[in-house]
Amino acid sequence: MTQSLEQSSRSQELQELLQAVSQRAVAYVASADTPGARIGDPVPPKQLFKMLGNSLALPDSGEGQQGFLRVMDEILKHSIVTWHSGFMDKLYVSTNPVGVASDILLSILNTNSYIYSVAPVLTLIEKQTSHEYAELFGFNNPLSGGITLPGGSASNTHSMIVARTILYPDTKVNGNGNYKFVIFTSRHGHYSVEKAAISLGLGSEAVWAIPVDKDERMRVDILEEKIIEAKEQGRTPLYINATAGTTVYGSYDPFEEISVVAKKYGLWLHVDGSWGGNVAFSDKLRYKLKGVELADSLTVNPHKMLGVPLTCSFLLAPDHRVFQTASSLRAPYLYHNGTIDGENYDMGDATMGCGRRADSLKLFLGWKWYGKEGYAKRIEQAFEVTQHLVNLIAKRPKFHLVSSNPPPCLQTCFYYSPRGGFTEKDSEYNTKVTRTVAYELQARGRFLVDYAPPAGGGGAGEFFRAVVNAPTTTKATVEELVATIEEIGVDMGL
Ligand SMILES: Cc1ncc(COP(=O)(O)O)c(C=O)c1O
Repeated sequence: MTQSLEQSSRSQELQELLQAVSQRAVAYVASADTPGARIGDPVPPKQLFKMLGNSLALPDSGEGQQGFLRVMDEILKHSIVTWHSGFMDKLYVSTNPVGVASDILLSILNTNSYIYSVAPVLTLIEKQTSHEYAELFGFNNPLSGGITLPGGSASNTHSMIVARTILYPDTKVNGNGNYKFVIFTSRHGHYSVEKAAISLGLGSEAVWAIPVDKDERMRVDILEEKIIEAKEQGRTPLYINATAGTTVYGSYDPFEEISVVAKKYGLWLHVDGSWGGNVAFSDKLRYKLKGVELADSLTVNPHKMLGVPLTCSFLLAPDHRVFQTASSLRAPYLYHNGTIDGENYDMGDATMGCGRRADSLKLFLGWKWYGKEGYAKRIEQAFEVTQHLVNLIAKRPKFHLVSSNPPPCLQTCFYYSPRGGFTEKDSEYNTKVTRTVAYELQARGRFLVDYAPPAGGGGAGEFFRAVVNAPTTTKATVEELVATIEEIGVDMGL
């Protein structure tokens, strides 16, 4: 009796709370679409702390639903609106209705996808989604598949662990010994590659940055020279990280040529497609990934280009068994019967973690909702808008395109200089203009756009990196961005 009363009161409480929350959530998204909507003010942390005041205090007596809703209102009011069309700052954007609903479903289940027995359906979904996703990248093999990990950095790190164990199995027990491993990545590789080397006890110095060509792609001739140099120094070349969509420039490394070198010298080839890997959905754009099927492992993040809720990252391989081989300790208190006929159903055993959220569900439901075609259309549309932005910038004398034209991915890197100078001697002024304009774009409530220094320093100072996030960024959005930058230049007398 007591139990059923409690149960009915918690379902009722859930209903009331969800109703109140969903009203606010829907109003929030609707307000992001109204003309003149603000993107979120640039407020320094100490000032924000004061503004939030009592909302941040943790109480002795619970504040229940009223307290929750009060705080929710404050959080919504002071947060950056990623649903806003001017959100062009990072390599992700708001999610969508199916994304929100799938996150709610995961929270309702609140299960742990480390073992099959407590997450049976979600385990099959992870295995099936990983396999189909791997096939998109040309891993056409019944054993292809993978696992989800909490982000692209975690996936890259895990791929390095797998590479080390598969190529040098004794390291799983004995560590790095005297191998003195070397990791290779282009100078535009994501910093997670260096962090992975730190985590593996190799140290960041073990990562050798390979120069790039004029299109910002890894120089394969220099890669080979550096591998030979490492061997001559008595070191062990272990792993090449090639990138599909570099973080700042969006370039795609030449995977086919890199794979020839990787095979020649016995290195693991990992492709970091955290950002640009999802062009695999599009028949028109998949050519950018030429040779990717030759990789030994690949990271790809639905939480970036596809608008799947954070976090959702997959580590895929032509043979998914490498993950369990590299990670499993077969802890007997958790993993009882998860491996059936050589097939692992206890996904946690294939990772370095334990408890895990079933992030694959969010891609699975999004893929069901939009289909492969829907995702392809989303990405193709984003490429079209990016090209439009590039064209606008290319024809304005006070702007200078850093990205190549056509742009390799969805970032447009460019300078805006009312004085019109784009050489090293203009760098101080250009950096000042870039920072001032970026701040002002946000302060006017309209855009969030990030900036970056040229890789390796020097150059003409910091430049804008505007990211087209489909479908929120439209041609009209980027036209307004360019016009607003020009307006700020005049208003502020830059
Ligand atoms: C190329 C690349 N790799 C890895 C990452 C890291 O991904 P995450 O933020 O999911 O850890 C990023 C993030 O922007 C990236 O651009």
